Amino acid sequence: MPGRVLITYGTKNGSTAEIAHVVASVLRDEGLEAEVRPPSEVEDVAPYDAIVIGGALYMGRWHRDARRFTRQHRKDLRERPVWLFSSGPLDPSASERDIPPVASARRAQRRTDALGHVTFGGRLEAGAKGRMAKAILDEGRGGDFRDLNRIAEWATDVAHDIGKPESA
Ligand SMILES: Cc1cc2nc3c(=O)[nH]c(=O)nc-3n(C[C@H](O)[C@H](O)[C@H](O)COP(=O)(O)O)c2cc1C
Repeated sequence: MPGRVLITYGTKNGSTAEIAHVVASVLRDEGLEAEVRPPSEVEDVAPYDAIVIGGALYMGRWHRDARRFTRQHRKDLRERPVWLFSSGPLDPSASERDIPPVASARRAQRRTDALGHVTFGGRLEAGAKGRMAKAILDEGRGGDFRDLNRIAEWATDVAHDIGKPESA
């Protein structure tokens, strides 16, 4: 039954985890069994038929936890369909055009033989961790640029590619 999907993520301020939950919810609507777990709670990817890995972008890099996950599980990931997403731009650019993966996400794509990658807009709001985050917010460059329609469209395409489980 090709229907169990893991969605995992690297996040600092939580917004990438929220995207992971939106992806999972769309996959479920499409008839798949979708589980969202932080990388620290995933021992083995072998039980899953497909894997989605998301990473926040910080200083031009894909989040460390996402990078590490693809290294730790590279062998099993290569044997399963994998999709990647990045979340970052704090402007509408990700809704307007396809933003290619940063170098570290590109390496993860090669490492896992991933079938696709997409960049979604990010979110930075009051309370975010780190001095640089506060500086960006002080300059008025924060906001929530996640585009739920774009996320849902991408997740629907992924679900169709995975294929719905055979009905009993
Ligand atoms: C210090 C800092 C550096 C960032 N660097 C990038 C970047 O290089 N590229 C990008 O697209 N977004 C960048 N962002 C925006 C974040 O990727 C965005 O806030 C993202 O949604 C954070 O995800 P998280 O909430 O899961 O941690 C940066 C944000 C901060 C605070």
